[in-house]
Amino acid sequence: MEMRNPERAIYLDNNATTQVAPEVIEAVHAAMEMTWGNPSSRHAFGLRANALVEEARLAVMRLLGARSPGEILFTSGGTESINTAIHAALAAAPAGRRRILTSTVEHSAVRQSLAPWRESGFEVTEIAVDHEGRLDVEACLAALDSGVALVTVQLANNETGALTETEQLARIGEAARASEVPFHLDAVQGPGKVPLAVGELGCDFLSISGHKFHGPKGVGALWVRPGAAPLFHPLVRGGPQEDERRGGTQNVPGIAGIGRAADLAREWLADGAGARRVRELRDRLESRLLGEIEGARLHAKGAPRLDNTVSVFVPGVEGELLLSSLDAEGLAVSGGAACSSRTKGPSPVLLAMGYGEEEASGTLRLSLSRLTTAEEIERAADVLGSVVQDLRGLFSA
Ligand SMILES: Cc1ncc(COP(=O)(O)O)c(C=O)c1O
Repeated sequence: MEMRNPERAIYLDNNATTQVAPEVIEAVHAAMEMTWGNPSSRHAFGLRANALVEEARLAVMRLLGARSPGEILFTSGGTESINTAIHAALAAAPAGRRRILTSTVEHSAVRQSLAPWRESGFEVTEIAVDHEGRLDVEACLAALDSGVALVTVQLANNETGALTETEQLARIGEAARASEVPFHLDAVQGPGKVPLAVGELGCDFLSISGHKFHGPKGVGALWVRPGAAPLFHPLVRGGPQEDERRGGTQNVPGIAGIGRAADLAREWLADGAGARRVRELRDRLESRLLGEIEGARLHAKGAPRLDNTVSVFVPGVEGELLLSSLDAEGLAVSGGAACSSRTKGPSPVLLAMGYGEEEASGTLRLSLSRLTTAEEIERAADVLGSVVQDLRGLFSA
């Protein structure tokens, strides 16, 4: 796949968003041009649009290893999927269940979705992670009892790439099931990076977002385990679309796009060769950064983690200045969480991992994709090495 990037800038911010795959653009374009009917209409235009939506649902089902297309609900993205799952679980919570278990390193989509529930009387317990970003699964299990209304944790962290392995998630799922507690997994950083099999993860709800795996923005999906929410309380109310679980005429082009992206991601991951190549590039980048930037330190290296993510502390250079200098040199990376990089300040994730303010403010995240080339990795390391050297020289002069 050719990179459409006229400036030859290097894009290493794939945990924020990914380049839309050409095949996805084609699918979106075809849906807009040819299949613009309302999928709820009974005439031929509607039936054709509905067929496209259902085809995409099957593709997302395959990506997630789900059993039936009815388990998949299309939404406007990861954030809506997360809000929907949290709402579905908590709106039906029995009066005696007033605690929510989550972690200290969740994305703001989870943290902010929980805020109104906290204000309405739910108690939110944040399970800690260690210095490498590993979730304290034992603490989560110990806190899981019949007073809990919801467990919501993430599969992989968007800043550090630290992930909780399937067996550990399954343990949480088993304990949650035993106490009849709904379990939501924010798997937005998963598709296209790790193979997913919802049946093994132990969760009842799982959220994903199209643009994180070379699909379009503004479209996502929520997987709901059959029987997990017999009294599903929709968040977005309206018409009877999505099996009465999400009102509103479906975003047919976006859904066609996420469907295509889902098939591409699954095919790319299938034999492990692509993931291995990304891991090798990531390792090469990390070793070059450690070799060339004095005092550089990597985060989450000791944790199970995504193959594509580098979190590196660059001491002695102001984070914002470093980011803008790298951008000026054609290297697009982010500091901390790109999705919230407009909110300045130290990364709450790194603070939660026990790092001080200096490290939590001076850390860069570089995230690769299946489109990243070896040549880009070498150039990125060259640029980073020389920009850091220049800035350090400037401020020590
Ligand atoms: C872990 C995680 N959860 C949720 C989201 C929200 O997804 P979206 O912005 O597509 O709604 C993101 C986006 O960065 C994320 O990384």
